[in-house]
Amino acid sequence: MKKIIVTGGAGYIGSHTVVELIEAGYTPIIVDNLCNTSIQNIKGIEKIIDKKIKWHNTDCTNKSAMDKVFATEGKIEGAIHFAAYKAVEESVQNPQKYYDNNLGSLKVLLQCMSDNSIKNIIFSSSCTVYGMPDVLPVDESALFKKAESPYGETKQICEGMLKDDTCNSVALRYFNPIGSHSSALIGDCSADKPSNLVPIITEVAIGKRKKITVFGDDYNTPDGTCIRDYIHVVDLAKSHVKAMNFLIKNSGKHAFNVGTGIGVSVLEAIKVFEESNNITINYTIGPRRDGDIEQIYANGSLVKSKLGWEAKETLEQAMISAWNWEKSKK
Ligand code: UD1
Repeated sequence: MKKIIVTGGAGYIGSHTVVELIEAGYTPIIVDNLCNTSIQNIKGIEKIIDKKIKWHNTDCTNKSAMDKVFATEGKIEGAIHFAAYKAVEESVQNPQKYYDNNLGSLKVLLQCMSDNSIKNIIFSSSCTVYGMPDVLPVDESALFKKAESPYGETKQICEGMLKDDTCNSVALRYFNPIGSHSSALIGDCSADKPSNLVPIITEVAIGKRKKITVFGDDYNTPDGTCIRDYIHVVDLAKSHVKAMNFLIKNSGKHAFNVGTGIGVSVLEAIKVFEESNNITINYTIGPRRDGDIEQIYANGSLVKSKLGWEAKETLEQAMISAWNWEKSKK
């Protein structure tokens, strides 16, 4: 049973990946200090897999604490690095917090890996590294544009850190992750005030908000609203398993888009949520949001040919699971 260190393994995408790693026969070791998630996800993972999970309550930026984790665990096959802050707006207000944590945790992890002769790392990157691409669907060869936020900048810098290191790496560039595990036992437990589309839709559905404001309907798209590529978090989690299988056999530096390849507008997303869950969502059209790009969706050819991965879940399934998660929250 190959041991995989999963930093941020109690977070939204991390917890889903831990479940998939176990189902694929790996032994994930969670390293997470719960600074922006909840113990609920650890308990949820244990309920789903019906056994205890190995978890270190450790700050990934603390080198001596991380040294202890590696010393305790013995032989490790690789690492998947999720531990990072992810609130775009907060990163604009407090950039230092993002540089310290997001860059600091990767730096410490790479040092620990080098000290322990561990070569393989998968990194949580984002399609934000592309900015507004010149060609759609965007492929991995597109040049990085100037980042829209310090959060985006940390993703670009981290990809650069991986390139300069001696490790074997896969950067997975996530498009827009949504939804939750079908059990509704794990999900996004971060303290961040939701700013992403789907969590806001579910808050309207449950009555925490009166309405959602659609940020602009005057874009150059069929219905005037922005287009994104919404990927079910369970599909996304599975891409990490494929990436680890690949990295164990293939050395070098790799980056893959992880999306569905389907562009969906804001109004279409609201409609699919309404129809899948039989709920009406109150919305109004407002002004554009600063920093929003008009449209982006993935070219998924490379990830399909190299990792044998493609999205399987539908947008309807993702919207149903997102609603189930909202209803399950206490
Ligand atoms: C955002 C981040 C991106 C990050 C991703 C993580 C920015 C500019 N980008 O992507 O770096 O990787 O989250 O999930 O913040 N929308 C509304 N009303 C709302 C909320 C959103 O109309 O109340 C629209 C947005 O204008 C956008 C779409 O919904 O067109 C998706 O927005 P969101 O979920 O915030 O994701 P991104 O902005 O694509």
